[in-house]
Amino acid sequence: VKSAISKEVSFHFSLFTKHFFKMEQFTIETGGHVSKILLGEKLANFRNYLPKGKKVVIVTDANLLKHYSQYFSEYPVIEIQQGEGNKNINTVDYIMEKLVSFEADRSTFIVGIGGGIVCDVTGFAASVYMRGLSFGFVSSTLLSMVDASVGGKNGINHRGYKNMVGTFKQPDFVICDYSLLLTLERKEFLGGFAEIIKHAAIKDFAMFEYMEQNFEKALNYDMDVLHRLIRDSIVIKSKVVEQDEKEQGERKKLNFGHTFAHSLEKHTDLSHGEAVAVGMVYASRVSVALGLISQADVERLIRLVVKYQLPISVGIDKKTLFDGMKKDKKRDGDGLHLILLQKIGDAVIKNITYSQLEGFIDDLYSA
Ligand SMILES: NC(=O)c1ccc[n+]([C@@H]2O[C@H](COP(=O)([O-])OP(=O)(O)OC[C@H]3O[C@@H](n4cnc5c(N)ncnc54)[C@H](O)[C@@H]3O)[C@@H](O)[C@H]2O)c1
Ligand SMILES: [Zn+2]
Repeated sequence: VKSAISKEVSFHFSLFTKHFFKMEQFTIETGGHVSKILLGEKLANFRNYLPKGKKVVIVTDANLLKHYSQYFSEYPVIEIQQGEGNKNINTVDYIMEKLVSFEADRSTFIVGIGGGIVCDVTGFAASVYMRGLSFGFVSSTLLSMVDASVGGKNGINHRGYKNMVGTFKQPDFVICDYSLLLTLERKEFLGGFAEIIKHAAIKDFAMFEYMEQNFEKALNYDMDVLHRLIRDSIVIKSKVVEQDEKEQGERKKLNFGHTFAHSLEKHTDLSHGEAVAVGMVYASRVSVALGLISQADVERLIRLVVKYQLPISVGIDKKTLFDGMKKDKKRDGDGLHLILLQKIGDAVIKNITYSQLEGFIDDLYSA
């Protein structure tokens, strides 16, 4: 796999920030395919990145239509239902049916405009319809900007189990228009910080310190701070993806907190971001139990999670948590691998047996 991240910086006038705002472009190359990540670009400009002379179909949801339909009204639109419960094969089936009715063919270009759910379902449908159409995303949530829209994993849930079915196919472009964050519900906005903390915790101590120092600005939609956090997240994620697109090793580290989170998400009413926050805390506590990291560092991580107004624990009985984790797709024979921390900014992948995991969960509940 040829690998390169290149970067171009340009400036444009943003009505939203009322000052010159930096636009940054990254290109991610995986197996010869080039994906453009456009930070600070505007939704209104997405047509500049469309292939010329091709039919275009938009996939989005009701919230995006409510706030932003004027920006894509000339294209046929497929509206999908919201929520994790709809990230499934029925929604993909619905998209296929609509694509057929719009006479989409192999040259049709699909644009997903929305959060992680729209991006995942759109990427999946686009990568299997007629054996694969090209597609792009306009990411509209903080979580999808920093995580879901980058990396080419397009997963759907199967009978309640997260991302059990999916494809690897990279979008041609991803636009992150920060002004879209202003219409996002506060709870959804906060959830995005969980994935940002994840990136700092596994790879970048300096970013972790920056998050500690700038949390008030970040929570107040300071665009320079958000830009730095989104950019750093994307750089971390794209480097890992370029090194290990198919998740043979290094990419697994991006699952820090997620084996716990997937069970928590299924069995409690936590959102994905909130579940990742709790999952990171649990995984860090396991890291202490194994003697990998100091208690003081874990307390520091917990303080950061609290600063970003995310949960650090949730009521769930330990058997339910354990059973949910056993069904995670990261299982591997009679055990699974957990991503643990040895320092803030440095993660390791550990294979553990189910009986070890059960012991760790007992410890979490008795502490
Ligand atoms: N493919 C990947 O690599 C990857 C990575 C991380 C997460 N994910 C997936 O992403 C999903 C979560 O994504 P999410 O948190 O973006 O949730 P989401 O897509 O459900 O969006 C959250 C809610 O916000 C609304 N919304 C979105 N943008 C808006 C805006 N600008 N203004 C107003 N409302 C808006 C949506 O309609 C929805 O109701 C999960 O299914 C997760 O598994 C995938
Ligand atoms: Zn996640």
